Amino acid sequence: MNVTELSKIAKQMVAPGKGILAADESMPTVGKRFASINLENTEDNRRAFREMLLTSPGEGQYISGVILFDETIRQKTSSGKSFVEVLKSEGILPGIKVDQGIKEMASGSVEKVTTHGLTGLAERLAEYVALGAKFAKWRAVITISDTTPTPANIAQNAQDLAQYALECQKAGLVPMVEPEVLLDGNHSLQASAKVLEQTLVAVFDELKKAGVAPEGVILKSSMAISGKDSGVKDTPTQVAKTTIDVFKKVLPAELAGVVFLSGGQSEVQATANLNAMNQSRTPVNGTAMHLTGDLPWPLTFSYARALQDGATKTWKGLKENLQAAQKVFLHRAKMNSLASQGKYTEELEKGFTASAGGEATQD
Ligand code: G3H
Repeated sequence: MNVTELSKIAKQMVAPGKGILAADESMPTVGKRFASINLENTEDNRRAFREMLLTSPGEGQYISGVILFDETIRQKTSSGKSFVEVLKSEGILPGIKVDQGIKEMASGSVEKVTTHGLTGLAERLAEYVALGAKFAKWRAVITISDTTPTPANIAQNAQDLAQYALECQKAGLVPMVEPEVLLDGNHSLQASAKVLEQTLVAVFDELKKAGVAPEGVILKSSMAISGKDSGVKDTPTQVAKTTIDVFKKVLPAELAGVVFLSGGQSEVQATANLNAMNQSRTPVNGTAMHLTGDLPWPLTFSYARALQDGATKTWKGLKENLQAAQKVFLHRAKMNSLASQGKYTEELEKGFTASAGGEATQD
């Protein structure tokens, strides 16, 4: 394992003013996105959709890496350039989703695990490295309800994430470790924070036991936030303070960085919450700048829906909408870039209609 090289890639992923685009939706999830614009879920439409996002001119100013899906890492633009080459030419790191989706932990259980994806993982990682990937993502989910999460579910997901992370580092890929505490449900902000803390304690304990080097790991986290059905809308300051309090208690200082998923938040909500995370840092020399605050980790974005929704609705699968859709995408990327530096304000949205956010289901 070359920790120096892993740490270099990880630092690039969370470079100041940049974040990650998650473009790794599985085929059924893309199908849901396409259903909202009445577009058929075919291989060519998925290719065109990813082309719209990945060829947005100048996106490398805001985007450090893109998480691709197995189909996408093998695809080319309409002019025949591979997506991996397109990203490299913008200075963007190609990443790859390597979990194989979630399954019921036990028959009929609301809780999910990803253990099945560990079979043959080393071979799949070697192939992705050969295809140009520099980092990988694995998403596990934790469900909050009256009876969950169970300690057994948290423990299983933590063990699976640690095993995946170790395999990645051995293969030369930076693991993006994603234990997503789902937004679905009517739980409170405090309940969300408690489960986030329990989950992260278990994950970082297992990573340590497995011998995973934290300086070559990116945590992809959910925010501590009230459940989608709770009827409560937390302020960005509440979300930021509660989330950061959990991180301070749990995360090792050596961790390379934290990126957030949007999890069903609206585009503006996800941006405003990220901005508050970065504004809540202690200013140094009067300015709250990335990495100069009182936290050892950069905090930035790794959004799918909160970066893509508006662009998707503008695009609608039509060539004539390509430029307008890319403009919407670049605007969103810029807003999140500013938020990762604590420099975003809602006035900057003028002239753009941000999407209201979608359903909470995602992979
Ligand atoms: O694994 C989840 C995705 O990478 C992030 O998606 O921002 O739509 O929650 P989201």
